[in-house]
Amino acid sequence: MSNDLSFAHRFEPGNRLEAPPLLLLHGTGGDENDLLPLGQAVSPGSALLSPRGKVLEHGMPRFFRRLGEGVFDEDDLRRRADELADFVEAARARYGIAAPVALGYSNGANIAAAMLLLRPDVLAGAILLRAMVPLSQPPQADLKDKPVLIISGKLDPIIPSSNSAQLAGLLAKAGANVQHPVLPTGHQLTQTDLTMSREWIKAVGFLQVQAGAA
Ligand code: MLT
Repeated sequence: MSNDLSFAHRFEPGNRLEAPPLLLLHGTGGDENDLLPLGQAVSPGSALLSPRGKVLEHGMPRFFRRLGEGVFDEDDLRRRADELADFVEAARARYGIAAPVALGYSNGANIAAAMLLLRPDVLAGAILLRAMVPLSQPPQADLKDKPVLIISGKLDPIIPSSNSAQLAGLLAKAGANVQHPVLPTGHQLTQTDLTMSREWIKAVGFLQVQAGAA
């Protein structure tokens, strides 16, 4: 664990050039260790950057404040998304990595969605697991061709299907290349989330290598 940038975080160097670095963003009550196994499984050989959310809700780390379940303190969210984006830029310089693909779950997926809208250049793409619309009045972002995978649960008690569909539409309208499978499951992650994420990232890595070679 390292404390020397603006977020407590873990960094694991990668060992496969074509595997994009991942920014791991945990859910409420998680920490910087939580998603390392998922990151390794989704994209073996990727560099992993994993910060811990700074907001505490009854002692549980989160990435921004909420007023109730699914009701966000949007001023705080905007500030925190900016702060996290600055951290990613500082960490890229420190560790010498390319712009990462975010892999976020729940609260972590929500701040990743906010970062895509507020600081589109910071992320190369995103896997958003159980995400919802983060901002009621999102800015006009240019996400041209940015690859985004949103995996939702049809039976998710926290996120109505209409909300995740709205998020997919919002990002697609901003130009992102969005895939949005909906699984017959709830808020918890399943093996299918892992399998789909792994297949998707392989294709993204391939596209980036092709773009680099062009
Ligand atoms: C959030 O607060 O980001 C969402 O309600 C998801 C959660 O963290 O439970």
